[in-house]
Order: sequence, then C-alpha cells, then structure tokens
Amino acid sequence: MKRACVIGWPVEHSRSPLIHGYWLRKYGIDGAYSKQAVRPAAVMDFLKSLAANGFVGCNVTVPHKEAAFEAADEKDDSARAVSAANTLWLADGKLCAANTDTYGYMTYLGLAAPGWDARAAPVSILGAGGAARAIAYGFLKAGVDEILLFNRTRARAEALAAQFGSRIKVLDWNERQARSREAAVLVNTTSIGMNGEGSLDIDFTGFNPACVVSDIVYVPLQTELLARARGCGLRTVDGLGMLLHQAVPGFEKWFGVRPHVTEELRNILVADITGRPC
Ligand code: ATR
Repeated sequence: MKRACVIGWPVEHSRSPLIHGYWLRKYGIDGAYSKQAVRPAAVMDFLKSLAANGFVGCNVTVPHKEAAFEAADEKDDSARAVSAANTLWLADGKLCAANTDTYGYMTYLGLAAPGWDARAAPVSILGAGGAARAIAYGFLKAGVDEILLFNRTRARAEALAAQFGSRIKVLDWNERQARSREAAVLVNTTSIGMNGEGSLDIDFTGFNPACVVSDIVYVPLQTELLARARGCGLRTVDGLGMLLHQAVPGFEKWFGVRPHVTEELRNILVADITGRPC
C-alpha cells in the first residue's frame, strides 16, 4: 500500500485528506493519506526519513513550507520562485519538491473565467506573502505585461518586485481600489475576509466590466470581496478551486493516476466548509 500524508503544526484543520481520500476511493487505489502533526523542531528529521517511515511523499502546510523547500534535493521552478514547497515526493531516492499553488490558481482561473487574459490590462495582486509570490509567478509565466502589487507593508511588496523584475509595479495599499479599475484580474492573497473577519473595503463601481475578481480565501466560499464584485456584475472566482486543483500534481506523483477535480469532490468540500450535507 502506498502512503502519503500532510504535515503541519497544527495540521488538524487541513482539508487535504478529504480531497485525496476521495480520489483514492474513486480510482480504487490501494493507498492511504493521513494527517501528521510534526513539530517545527522535528520537521527536517521527518522529511529526511519519509521513505523509512513508509511514505511515498507528502503535502506540506504552515509552518513547514520553507523547511520542505530546504530539505529537498530537487525543486521545481515554482518552488524556487516562492522559496517554499507544498508538495514532496520521492524519485530515485531523491526528495523532490514542488509548489503547486501556481498551478492550482492558474488552472482554476482558466476554467472559471475563460478569456480573463483577452485584454491587454494589468493584474492587481493584494498581498505579498507566499501565496502572492506563487500567483505573481503564475501570471508572469502566463505572459501578463504588468502586475500592480499592493501590500500593507510596502517593503515586502518591494522585495517581491525586486525578485520578479520590472513587470511588477508596487503601489500603496490605500491605492488598491483607485488603481485597479482597469485591471483584467484582481486577486486577494491576504487573509482578510477569512472566517468573515475584516474587509478589503473595495467598491467595484466604475471597474471595467470585464474585470475578474478572485479570492484565495475559501471560508466562507463567497467572501465579502466576491459578494461586492458580484453585486457590481463582475465575474468572480472563489478560492476553493485553487485548493482542489493544487492537489492534483501531488496525487499523480504519489499514486500514479492524474485525478479529476469533479463536481462531486467540490460538493464534499463545500459540505465540510458550510457544515451542510451535500
Ligand atoms: P501566505 O504565505 O499564506 O501568503 P503571509 O506570508 O502570512 O501568508 O502573508 C499574509 C498577507 O496578508 C501579507 O501580505 C499581509 O500583509 P503584511 O505583509 O503587511 O503583513 C496580508 N495581511 C494580513 N492581514 C492583513 C490586514 N489586516 N491588512 C492588510 N494586509 C493584511
């Protein structure tokens, strides 16, 4: 039996077992996927003995993503861009790392808002943490000419821009509404709005009607940001799709089947998030 897991500290909140458990059942695979609570002091030892502990790989959540990147022998381009990894697997005795947030975000954006890239318009990114890095990298790879980056702590946005080059333009946090009106996509990568807490305080009146508004927060599914955008007739993309799609590459590496993100799987997660049966 092949075994994979998600490691974190804490890890109890992780919804990855719901996703991988669904796929293991759906494809009839003799495998298992568990949660492993790993203390920060123990993470390097854990990762170096993945195979000895019977695992073919793992997902990595907070606060171990940077340690996972450091521990890996081979790293994909997205992991390098973010200096953090969320997916690890063993290949020929080597520990390989990927950051699949870029793939997850860009894949779902393409599915949920086809044609988002039809306009020669900038993309606005709110936030400058690890998620912002993964998403900025995705947009740059997709050929976007200009990314407008807004972060409460401007120095962090400037560090991100310094890494990625001149296509990223840093603007003040309090300009996020006024300077995003012509954006092709506006994405929130901050934790504002999670569990209904805080507000990004953006009024979408006067935005270009083709603007797509997305949020990586998925609890609640419809965040205040998305509700406001919808209220102004804009297309919206929720954060759950990114969570589902980022899981695809890991499952394929560990269990040898490229899984599908189905409506049924999405409904399982929606039921878990909302507390209502599917
Ligand atoms: P992750 O790696 O998941 O992206 P992170 O590195 O903790 O998480 O980044 C969180 C992001 O949310 C940051 O951009 C943070 O802004 P700062 O760099 O100024 O800390 C942003 N953020 C969190 N709470 C915020 C708030 N109340 N107002 C504005 N930005 C906030």
